[in-house]
Amino acid sequence: MSSETNEPTELAICMGSSCFSRGNKRNIKVIQEYIDMHGLCGKIVLKGHLCEGLCKKGPNITVDGEVYSSMEPDSLMFFLDDHIKVPE
Ligand code: FES
Repeated sequence: MSSETNEPTELAICMGSSCFSRGNKRNIKVIQEYIDMHGLCGKIVLKGHLCEGLCKKGPNITVDGEVYSSMEPDSLMFFLDDHIKVPE
């Protein structure tokens, strides 16, 4: 987490078929709920990207350029609490 900066957190979700079917389809909804819940609309850059060849470790989500693997929808909210900075 880089809470020292005022830059918005960039979340990039792998939209490749493997990651998408293994959890990122639900993870997108979880992230959107999280953004709504915490009033982070416009404060997080949310992107999708194509398969990066890390399918076996998926579903993968990249936060500020760092890839996180095995991102299960059920525990994603906790991960977001730890990795998303809320701009002042
Ligand atoms: S589908 Fe996500 S890394 Fe391949």
